[in-house]
Amino acid sequence: MLGWLLSHFSKDLAMDLGTANTLIYMRGRGIVLNEPSVVAINQDTHQVISVGQEARNIIGRHGQRIVTIRPLKDGVIADFEVTAVMIKYFLAKVLRKRQIVRPQLVVAVPTGITSVEKRAVIEAAEQAGARNVHLVEEPMAAAIGAGLPIDQAFGNMIVDIGGGTTEVAVISMFAVAYSESVRVAGDEANEAIMRYIQRERQMIISEVLAENVKMKIGTAVPLDKPESIEITGKEILSGIPKTFSICDDEIREAMKEPIGAIVESVKRALEKTPPDLASDIHDQGFWLAGGGALLKGLDKLLSQATNLKVNIAEDPLTAVARGAGAVIDHVDFFRQVFIN
Ligand SMILES: Nc1ncnc2c1ncn2[C@@H]1O[C@H](COP(=O)(O)OP(=O)(O)OP(=O)(O)O)[C@@H](O)[C@H]1O
Ligand SMILES: [Mg+2]
Repeated sequence: MLGWLLSHFSKDLAMDLGTANTLIYMRGRGIVLNEPSVVAINQDTHQVISVGQEARNIIGRHGQRIVTIRPLKDGVIADFEVTAVMIKYFLAKVLRKRQIVRPQLVVAVPTGITSVEKRAVIEAAEQAGARNVHLVEEPMAAAIGAGLPIDQAFGNMIVDIGGGTTEVAVISMFAVAYSESVRVAGDEANEAIMRYIQRERQMIISEVLAENVKMKIGTAVPLDKPESIEITGKEILSGIPKTFSICDDEIREAMKEPIGAIVESVKRALEKTPPDLASDIHDQGFWLAGGGALLKGLDKLLSQATNLKVNIAEDPLTAVARGAGAVIDHVDFFRQVFIN
């Protein structure tokens, strides 16, 4: 009775704590927050200047006193304190007014998270006002968000390509049967583009611009119709800003290594999956989630490399948050997926 009353009056939440983006789902309302995982801090006073979208907007445009920090880097919590600040800020934002009942919270975390990091996430969420904090692995949440039958005795394979990590997981009966994680994903692709332009064009561009180029003309396989884009960078030798044109072939060449590493991790996971689960995957193919799934032609490349059907989850950027949201919506059904 008490449990029913509590859940009736509390606005239970689910959070995808990603290296690139943090999303919050509220029971009965859907996704209520979707912001970059960035915090801007004044180095002298240690004061938090801004969090989320506002902090991302000033990357590369602020004075020397301010640093913009991405507290989750390469799929792990690189900075505990700043992560806690960010979690608290985002939760406060969606829970604006004081709640009568503290909300329950499900947080999706990387599979490799250590027990110290688990504690840090739980403490930060509790300090921010959460009542029961449950942790769920990101690929599990992604699979649920993609609508896969993870409760069945069946091999469901999901490849979540985020900002910091690519996680490949085979899930059956509420558990991860096999998982493979590499610290190569969208961020690495951006950095590879910056390095390529520096080396081949002797130009320096920002990471934000490299990411825009990737989203606009980046592809994993050649396009039917070639594309190019005009961008402005700084010439290395003179330091003078200059506009130049770059085409999809060059960007594909630039991203060859990170994309190759993603393909290899998928192949490795397939090799290591137990035979019965592998045969299910052979019949159904596998699913892509995370922002990296939006890279044009990546599904095609992965399909060519594995001879399997590759499906892209609906709205891949929100799959983890929606999956974690389904877990908070049906806590009793999904209880077995919690890892704390
Ligand atoms: N249209 C697009 N084409 C290519 N890449 C994209 C596109 N849209 C987003 N991305 C990339 O997706 C990545 C962010 O994805 P996502 O939000 O799933 O990551 P995350 O969950 O924060 O990170 P992680 O899961 O590693 O912790 C970024 O690297 C971004 O550049
Ligand atoms: Mg993610």
